[in-house]
Amino acid sequence: MRRNLFDLSGRSAVVTGAYQGLGLGMARGLAEAGASVMLVDVNPLVVQRAEELCSEGLSAKGYAANLLDRSARLELKRTLSADLDGKLDILVNNAGIQIRHPVLEFPIEDWDTVLELNLTAAFDLAQWAANIMVKQGKGKIINTASVNSLAAGVNTVAYCAAKGGIMQMTKVMSNELSSQGINVNCIAPGYMATAINTALVEDEKRFAELSQRIPAKRWGQPQDMAGAAVYLASDASEYVCGIMLPVDGGYLGR
Ligand SMILES: NC(=O)c1ccc[n+]([C@@H]2O[C@H](COP(=O)([O-])OP(=O)(O)OC[C@H]3O[C@@H](n4cnc5c(N)ncnc54)[C@H](O)[C@@H]3O)[C@@H](O)[C@H]2O)c1
Repeated sequence: MRRNLFDLSGRSAVVTGAYQGLGLGMARGLAEAGASVMLVDVNPLVVQRAEELCSEGLSAKGYAANLLDRSARLELKRTLSADLDGKLDILVNNAGIQIRHPVLEFPIEDWDTVLELNLTAAFDLAQWAANIMVKQGKGKIINTASVNSLAAGVNTVAYCAAKGGIMQMTKVMSNELSSQGINVNCIAPGYMATAINTALVEDEKRFAELSQRIPAKRWGQPQDMAGAAVYLASDASEYVCGIMLPVDGGYLGR
């Protein structure tokens, strides 16, 4: 009998920051592989986004929540746990923001905002998911790192600190949870043409510099994330633990 290692039929997935961009690309990929996907986003239009996926024959439901707000996160975890009936196969921590200032002027409030969403909220949800998955003896947690987890930029000290943290958080969680059937890994996108990069795309000089450094000679698109997400969410990656998988058109190799 043929076996499809990448089949996610019957699996449940939560994807944060899924209204648009890379989160939507991964949510769509998981749904197309058969998963029932819960899309979480601060943008209330995420509910309609999920309905659009359903109208294409996919299984999806939208949840509006501001992941910067700790009490909203608590409420979200309660709602998701109830809707999932206490079971969860896949978590994709993707919601993230960028705030740019030079180091000498970086406001501490902006530092707190970037760290809270890009690192603390990801840990909070990963811890919630892991507690469910430990009881099941099975589960997949996928965090969204960045090429900036390794290669730092400029004017992005909080973002790079948070993304470096995501990589290390992923490894520690993997070290503690792999023996219990839980795979914790992260994906490191390179330069992707999404809203988070508007400032870079509009800066002609920086855009040209960065494009020059991408061996694939193009910026990534949300759909470029789907294969990596499906792989790390599926039985194909059962012995893949604590890695950072670049999806970067070869950027980190230069
Ligand atoms: N685009 C890139 O080049 C790139 C590169 C490396 C890593 N990443 C990471 O990929 C992830 C997705 O980025 P993107 O490029 O798709 O950005 P994006 O801005 O297009 O999408 C981010 C999504 O997160 C949601 N979001 C923002 N604040 C939120 C909050 N407080 N609560 C809940 N949801 C919130 C937004 O509404 C949006 O739907 C981020 O973690 C980002 O750091 C992106």
